[in-house]
Amino acid sequence: MAATNSQTLLLLPGDGIGPEVTEEARRVAAHVAPDLAIEEAYFGGVSYDNFGTPLTDAVMDRAHKVDAILMGAVGGPQWDSVPRDKRPEAGLLRIRKELDVYANLRPAFCFPALAGASALKPELVEGLDIMIVRELTSGVYFGQPKMIEQLPNGERRGVDTQSYTTSEIRRVAARAFELARGRTGRTGRFPGVLSCEKSNVMDSGLLWREEVTKLHAEKYSDVKLDHMLADATAMHLVRAPKDINVLLADNLFGDILSDEASMLTGSIGMLPSASLGEPGVPGLYEPVHGSAPDIAGKGIANPIAAILSLEMVMRWSLGRADVADRIFAAVGKALEGGARTADIGGSMNTRQMADAILKHL
Ligand code: IPM
Ligand code: MG
Repeated sequence: MAATNSQTLLLLPGDGIGPEVTEEARRVAAHVAPDLAIEEAYFGGVSYDNFGTPLTDAVMDRAHKVDAILMGAVGGPQWDSVPRDKRPEAGLLRIRKELDVYANLRPAFCFPALAGASALKPELVEGLDIMIVRELTSGVYFGQPKMIEQLPNGERRGVDTQSYTTSEIRRVAARAFELARGRTGRTGRFPGVLSCEKSNVMDSGLLWREEVTKLHAEKYSDVKLDHMLADATAMHLVRAPKDINVLLADNLFGDILSDEASMLTGSIGMLPSASLGEPGVPGLYEPVHGSAPDIAGKGIANPIAAILSLEMVMRWSLGRADVADRIFAAVGKALEGGARTADIGGSMNTRQMADAILKHL
């Protein structure tokens, strides 16, 4: 899509630190793309408190019509006792599902200035650049039946269903292969797509492996494909993360592995994500971090994940790769200049960190 004057970004700041970090992304957007129309709406717990639902139909309708949606974070302990279908997380699952943004891109890269902040030795993470492609709208978070039932013997039974169809696997795998094509010059052990599942014990995992292999042979044989069991992948991620280029995983494994990968990069406060559907569907963007209730309201959260989510908005939904490149470079320069929030070993507050980035824009 070419840059036009009529693009609209919908901000859903949400709960906890969401509003604090989203506000900084909004300031950056206003600076680098003054023509962009920006709207804002309630989402998550704050929507539940005001309207009795984490996502109103009016906001959902709006989401279908804008060019991209940037979320902050949802959830917090004050909504723990709310019925499951009204919880903030239910709003998140609904917006993902209704937009059908099945491909969740979670990059895990290490800014050179932060190699020392990783939980791993700097030489293991320096230059790290992984793209996790997580299936986002199916699998065990959505499969039916899903319930807690009362058994005649007085016990209770919790059930979730892991299920994947051929097309659900193929469409997200295609995204991973296409992304790998655009990421050249990789020299690790798994230079193309590394697909993970538990095909040794799960039928859905076996189907996953078979369908990915088939699609690869049909259309993407120019890309290197490897398979690994998800548990071994978790181990490999901390043993030799630079081996991995594009990591393809289902909804559950992708959720877990992306949190793991975030710690390689210094802090989960650094990482953005993009959730994409078919062409024409607005992309949904969000920091990988959660609402962090423990530091909410203090103005000390790291705004980088939100600002880099805006970077992904520019790149993947608005056709403004040049602006995206500028934002990415400005974050790198701010870090090189020593800008640090508490999560990455500094004492800057949210606003100061954003200002340090804005200075380079
Ligand atoms: C994430 C989060 C969500 C998920 C929760 C909040 C529902 O952990 O985006 O990774 O599990 O997808
Ligand atoms: Mg998660």
